[in-house]
Formats: sequence, structure tokens, C-alpha cells
Amino acid sequence: MNVLVRGRRRHFRTVDFDETRNAVRLIEQRLLPHTFKVVATRDYRETARAITDMIVRGAGAIGATAAFGLAQGARAFRGGGLARFAAQVETVYRTLADARPTAVDPVNAMNEIRRRMAAGRTVAEQQALALAAARAFADEAVAHCEAIGRHGAPLIRDGLRVQTHCNAGWLAFVDIGSATAPLYAAQAAGRRFHVFCDETRPRSQGASLTAWELAQQGISHEVIADNAAGHLMQRGEIDLVIVGSDRVLGRTGEVANKIGTYTQAVLAHRHGIPFYVAIPLSTIDWNLRSGRDIPIEERTGSEVLSAWGTLADPKAGSRRRKAGARVYVRVANPTSGARNPGFDVTPPELITGILTPVGIFKPKDLWKRRRELGG
Ligand code: MRU
Repeated sequence: MNVLVRGRRRHFRTVDFDETRNAVRLIEQRLLPHTFKVVATRDYRETARAITDMIVRGAGAIGATAAFGLAQGARAFRGGGLARFAAQVETVYRTLADARPTAVDPVNAMNEIRRRMAAGRTVAEQQALALAAARAFADEAVAHCEAIGRHGAPLIRDGLRVQTHCNAGWLAFVDIGSATAPLYAAQAAGRRFHVFCDETRPRSQGASLTAWELAQQGISHEVIADNAAGHLMQRGEIDLVIVGSDRVLGRTGEVANKIGTYTQAVLAHRHGIPFYVAIPLSTIDWNLRSGRDIPIEERTGSEVLSAWGTLADPKAGSRRRKAGARVYVRVANPTSGARNPGFDVTPPELITGILTPVGIFKPKDLWKRRRELGG
């Protein structure tokens, strides 16, 4: 996606790989929307930490990061012994798979890399195959988002008011995004529409990331508090909701996504508003049999009790801090603790359609259409 950095518009991918330095290159998403910076992780442990600490986040983006991280760990191996190499790859795989538990894309991506690596007869061949497979995964992820855009664009009619939750935009993928793909395709087709970005407490990915993307793209939008959506729906000000997902169960059609998605789906259902979930095929989990089995990440309570931001008014900060300085502020009562589940699960009956690179499906139809969906 094109980004305006210091007055110049340039194309960036969220995740990339520097072959010479054996480094994964990532947009430092924790600094957005205030600072645009690309960082590099020097080894697979740093790459896993970048996922855990959310330098990179979003199912598709952490899928590609894990794919490159696996190649990075494999390429760092010195020696010719295949057994020791396999043990190293297993350690790298485990470390990256454990970095964040809810999204299935990292595991699906790394399984695919390992499957392709198996064709190599020597360590060197497997190392080369690992990087080629990681690059192929990243390119395919972009192609999937393009195809989601083609299938989803007809949903975005002229004048539509669309609600999103969290960030399933290009920052959550390698490029383009899943929930944003139909918006970008509709914009390219000359349609005008308005987007309400749910703020998405506690980390505010909607306010900081989706709003930034839409601003970069010149799409009309406003940020709303998560709890404003019901009111706008009741007043007829929202026509359609589109979100991404971190794991869709192919067997049941249940959708794990950023905390608060279930609430928005219940509200949309109550008001008869279509609710779509846009995903690449790497987000489908064909194994789990129940949404109750999806590992839901519990994050630190400090994300709920406090917030990051920049000083808008110099008078608001201490004398030494200037406007624009990044600060962390305590919002909640100082002696209170917090509970912070990162994701929730939306049942299939609340979902109008699962928008995929091969078309739009009823959630309950995923299993019987699994051949088309790569299951
Ligand atoms: O915790 P995050 O920011 O990694 O959460 C992921 C999300 O942004 C959303 O849940 C998104 O809709 C799915 S990721 C494409």
C-alpha cells in the first residue's frame, strides 16, 4: 500500500525479508499513526518477540512474519547434518507458533513452509526452499486479498455507510488487507462511501491503524467509540459491517476475531444489518471442532487500565515534554486490576457471509465446500 512518508508517497509491504542480512523487515505498528518506521529483526527469537509484543500484528501479517521467521531460523543453521537441522527447525517452529495463540495463520503458514522444505535433500537445499516458500506465502497472501477485493467490491454500493472493527487492513496483512480489500476495490471503481472505524479498545487498532490507513487512502471515515455502534445502527446510520478474523472454523463456521466483534455481530443481527467476515484461506482452521477449543489470548491488564498516545497540547505535559511526545497514561483507578481477553468467538448464525478469495460462503457451508477452499 502507498504511504506518504516525509512528503513522499512510497509503496510498502507490512512484512518483508532482507536476504543479505537474514532479517525480517516489519513496520513498527506500535508507533502508528504518529511515527512511521521500519525495523528489522536479526534472528528468529527477535522475530517471535516482535509478534508477541505486537510490533507486527493482525492474522495475515503474523502469518507471513512466522513464515519468514521460520526461513530465517533455518538459514541461520550452520553445518550439514540433516538431523540437527531438523531439530533446529522444530525449535524455531515452536517458538514462533507460541508467540501468539489465537490466529491460525502462523501455524498454517509454517506447516506449508515445512511441507515444501521436505523436497530438499540437503540442508542447503532445504534452507533455499524455506525462503522461497515464505516468499510464495507472502505473495499468495497479497493475491488472496486482491481476490477478496474483487468478490467483495459489489457489496460496497455508492453512498454506503460501513462499519469496521479492529484493523483487518493492509497493516494486518502483507498488503491490501481483507476487510479493507472491498473498500479499496470499490474506491478504485469510483464509488463513494463512508466508513465508521470502531475504536477497538483496549489497544485501539481501529482508531490508530484502520483510521490511519483510510486517511492515507483518502477514504471518508470517522472513528467511533465501540459502544456508539448500537446507537448508530438504531438510527439507521450503518448499512453494513465488515470485519476480519484470526481463525474461522471450517467445520462449524465460528469466527474468532478481536474482542468486541461478537458484540457488534449481535447488534447487527438485532438491526437486520448484513455482517461479513473477510479472510484469506490461511485463516481457516479445518481441525478444531468447536469454538470453545480456540485458544483465546489473555493479555496484560495494563492495556485496559492505561493507554498510549501523543501529547496534543504542550500545556498538557510536563515542562520537559513537547507536543507530539509519546506518552503512556493511566486511565483507570490506580488500585484496580483488569481482565483482558484479546478475542471472542462469533457464532455462524450471526454472520451473513464469509468473504474469501474464491467467493462468498454461508459460514455453515464452509465444510461442504472445503475442496474449493483448500481444506
Ligand atoms: O490483536 P491483533 O491486532 O493482532 O488482532 C487482530 C486483528 O486485528 C483483528 O482481530 C482482525 O480483524 C483480524 S486480523 C486480519
